[in-house]
Amino acid sequence: MKENIALIGLMGSGKTTIGRELAKALEMKFIDIDSIITTRENRNIVDIFNDEGEEYFRKLERTIIDEESKKNNIVISTGGGVIIDNSNIKNLRKTSYVIYLDSSLECIYERVKNGKKRPLLNDIDDLYKKIEELYEQRNWLYKISCDFTVEIVLESSIQDTVDIIKKAYIKS
Ligand code: S3P
Repeated sequence: MKENIALIGLMGSGKTTIGRELAKALEMKFIDIDSIITTRENRNIVDIFNDEGEEYFRKLERTIIDEESKKNNIVISTGGGVIIDNSNIKNLRKTSYVIYLDSSLECIYERVKNGKKRPLLNDIDDLYKKIEELYEQRNWLYKISCDFTVEIVLESSIQDTVDIIKKAYIKS
């Protein structure tokens, strides 16, 4: 069994919510890569993208994943773009059992529609179509990067999802 668990999946797939509950259930520490980035930079993700550009953000993301993945007994919630760079996945997989939260498009849409925290989804005319495009671009990457996939639909409860992941991790 690997030391850590990493959650991957699209924006709004529930990584932070599920990750927090999973960490409690397994008595592990919870960490969120985006939160570490914003604390370190002392500004939010939208400001980092606006002020410095996406490349700068991706570099920070890479550095922080490299550092955090070396720690023990943690549940790591990653940003949705983590699979764009293969070195992130390599680092995560060294110490973490990687779970893909494969949330339905409806689920994602409901979770992100009122938010303004995600630069890639701000000022988009057709938000549902944008989510669909991101899913098409990234679903295969999440699939080949993970050890286990859990499907999430609007009716899924947090507790059920946590139980499924917990069982899979303990069996691994
Ligand atoms: C991104 C996802 C975001 C955040 C940034 C870029 C992406 O994290 O890292 O806005 O490329 O999918 P969440 O998945 O936690 O929203």
